[in-house]
Amino acid sequence: MSYTKKHAKIDQWPEKEKEKYTKNRETLKLTIPTLLLFCSVCLIFLILLFPFTSPPQTTSFPASSLPRTCFQNFTVYVYDLPKEFNTNLLQNCRHLNIYTDMCPHVANNGLGQPLRRDSKTWFATHQFIAEMIFHARVENHPCRTLEPSNADIFYVPFYGGLYGSSVFREHNLTKRDEVAVRLVDYVSGQRWWKKSNGRDHFLAIGRTAWDFMRASDEAGTDFGANTLMVMPRVMNMSVLTVERQPWKGDNQFGIPYPSYFHPYTSAEMVTWQDKMRIVERPHLFSFVGGPRKGLEKAAIRDELIRQCAGSSRCELLKCESGGTRCHDPMTVLGVMARSRFCLQAPGDSFTRRSTFDAMLAGCIPVFFSPHTMYTQYMWYLPDDRRSYSVFMDEKNSTQIEHELSRISDSEVVMLRETIINLIPSMTYAHPNATNYDLLDAVDVALEALAKQARGKVV
Ligand SMILES: *[C@@H]1O[C@H](CO)[C@@H](O)[C@H](O)[C@H]1NC(C)=O
Ligand SMILES: *[C@@H]1O[C@H](CO)[C@@H](O)[C@H](O)[C@H]1NC(C)=O
Ligand SMILES: *[C@@H]1O[C@H](CO)[C@@H](O)[C@H](O)[C@H]1NC(C)=O
Ligand SMILES: *[C@@H]1O[C@H](CO)[C@@H](O)[C@H](O)[C@H]1NC(C)=O
Ligand SMILES: *[C@@H]1O[C@H](CO)[C@@H](O)[C@H](O)[C@H]1NC(C)=O
Repeated sequence: MSYTKKHAKIDQWPEKEKEKYTKNRETLKLTIPTLLLFCSVCLIFLILLFPFTSPPQTTSFPASSLPRTCFQNFTVYVYDLPKEFNTNLLQNCRHLNIYTDMCPHVANNGLGQPLRRDSKTWFATHQFIAEMIFHARVENHPCRTLEPSNADIFYVPFYGGLYGSSVFREHNLTKRDEVAVRLVDYVSGQRWWKKSNGRDHFLAIGRTAWDFMRASDEAGTDFGANTLMVMPRVMNMSVLTVERQPWKGDNQFGIPYPSYFHPYTSAEMVTWQDKMRIVERPHLFSFVGGPRKGLEKAAIRDELIRQCAGSSRCELLKCESGGTRCHDPMTVLGVMARSRFCLQAPGDSFTRRSTFDAMLAGCIPVFFSPHTMYTQYMWYLPDDRRSYSVFMDEKNSTQIEHELSRISDSEVVMLRETIINLIPSMTYAHPNATNYDLLDAVDVALEALAKQARGKVV
């Protein structure tokens, strides 16, 4: 098998250059700029992607969503919080994030804008929006109970990530924390909290734990965090987050970053998995990402870019100032679907949304830090990390191509099969999904929480 850059048919997808826009910290994190939501590249690309995706527009689903049956052995109660803690925040969507206008991203229960006007399952979903999708999924969950006395677990649907990013620049720390403090006062005053001091209560937050763990002794290094996750009462709860603090976050549990695929039916998911099994992957490996300036982790990124650019078997999608291709969902997925392995360097923090995009594309992730995946998403991953990923330390990462090419074809097939089988549980199904009987990211989390709560509450 040869790995030239030219022979894949999906290489003929157009890669249109769009107008330049200003870079900011969050676009560096692969945030999709508002601009691109309306970008026609997506449309052209999707049309061309159809040889390999399931065409979303052919989906039919019942107009009236039939209540699904609860097959899981738990009940979840959803607090009806005062609106200032969730939906009222959305009215201020222009100012929820100091880098990006969030209005297009909070649409459709947080799925964002459809990639095509008639697309029901593919959306340009923002990387830090899991909390909204989670909320919509739980509200429609068949195991939801409206009766708190029957509930195994209690969901507190606070949009803490959207709130947190809206106050990054608030210098008055009392003010920065005040909504989080009010939220915790509110829930801890509820009758059902007292039953177990909040042990069976949980939050689901779409940003990394670092943004909520401001330590009082770090006055000099303020990067905008509030204190939500270090409040003692919150430490009695379970906190679901896209990145947990690996050393202090005993009550924190990793949940996947949302990717772009939000299927309505199990059949759509199975069709996608089958396509990822057979798609032609001419490249041994790929890297999607940009260099980081002034960060220690920049060293590994610069090294990956250097090695990828220098290898005829690597496809590089370099995210640079003014470049927009790596913010286009389908360009990103296309690169990943053409590769056997996808390099996952830490970004501004340990984890990357890109890891979940890669897995969705059936690409085997290569990690350079255990905290990018292994210490994060325990509920979602097999115990044996070698069954679904490749790890490289400082020594063997100096020869990535060489190390990866030593992995046999049959091993690659086995790794990829594990990855593809993990896609459903890593995916946020459409909140209004009806004919969907696979466990998605939210189902897996709820089940794990319920199991945990049974152990805690006697
Ligand atoms: C469901 O959970 C209850 C405890 O809450 C347990 O007694 C029962 O055996 C469980 N059933 C199944 C099928 O796991
Ligand atoms: C799900 O259905 C509800 C009720 O019909 C609707 O308001 C909501 O917008 C739908 N969500 C999405 C993402 O389409
Ligand atoms: C910070 O905000 C709080 C609450 O709004 C206010 O009481 C306090 O005076 C403010 N502190 C400063 C230094 O402005
Ligand atoms: C946390 O829970 C423990 C017991 O479950 C309780 O003793 C403690 O007071 C709780 N802490 C707070 C701050 O509520
Ligand atoms: C690289 O080295 C680490 C530590 O020795 C090892 O765990 C890992 O499996 C190696 N990776 C490859 C691809 O050989």
